[in-house]
Amino acid sequence: MNHVQLTNLLTRARHGEKIAMLTCYDATFAKLMAAAGVDMLLVGDSLGMVIQGAANTLQVQMQDMLYHTRCVARGAPQCLIMSDMPVGSYETSAKQALMHAQALMATGAHLVKIEGGGDMVQIARHLVNHGIPVCAHLGFTPQSVEKLGGYKIQGKTPEAAARLMADAQAMAEAGVSLVLFEMVPAALARDITQHIAIPTIGIGAGADCSGQVLVLQDVLGIYDGPAEKAPDTYRAPRFAQNFLQDSGSIAQAIQAYVKAVKDGRFPEPRHAY
Ligand code: KIV
Repeated sequence: MNHVQLTNLLTRARHGEKIAMLTCYDATFAKLMAAAGVDMLLVGDSLGMVIQGAANTLQVQMQDMLYHTRCVARGAPQCLIMSDMPVGSYETSAKQALMHAQALMATGAHLVKIEGGGDMVQIARHLVNHGIPVCAHLGFTPQSVEKLGGYKIQGKTPEAAARLMADAQAMAEAGVSLVLFEMVPAALARDITQHIAIPTIGIGAGADCSGQVLVLQDVLGIYDGPAEKAPDTYRAPRFAQNFLQDSGSIAQAIQAYVKAVKDGRFPEPRHAY
């Protein structure tokens, strides 16, 4: 089984091929996603919500990320795996970030994702300089949900848009491999994608990013909110799409997602801001 190289995927993206990414937390789904042609599996700290039943990602621990990364890597050794650095594992110092990033790489990750621009640029640069490929998660950053005052679209004012552009540019210059935009206006994500030299991944960021990511449970239409809340009070985010309802099986739903991303049919304008 040939292992997909990150550099090959990035080159394909630069030549216009869309990257199809999905979150993944265990070996069974990893194997299924590999067979369905998902380009990159994200062991997201969204596992705090969809696996652990919490209201957000803030209680996810490093040991959780190590455990789930190991499970995913066992299920799909040929796939590219990106693991989230959980809150509290990288923000304090570059040394702390490197130690935890190396631990994730040792369990099977091929790159790590950190949230935020600004001060995080230094952290990203330190990781890259020590051989760790990095994805910078910008826009709505779930680990800052309290600071941001909830699940809100980012980059709406001219100042915020300029800040996002500057952060993305600074991250690219620091050597990160990918920038991921969550919940930003589609036109802004398009402009930044055209401006920076590295591929972008969108979730609620329109069709013009270099690739897309969704949470697996949203693709299957099975997430109905935090355990503490009544299911009928939950409204799926605008960017979510249930691919299972028109498919005969989970495998076919994942294949349909990959094909829709590759063909540029997902996301549609109704999924964007
Ligand atoms: O943790 C996660 O699943 C993520 C995606 C929402 C991009 O970061």
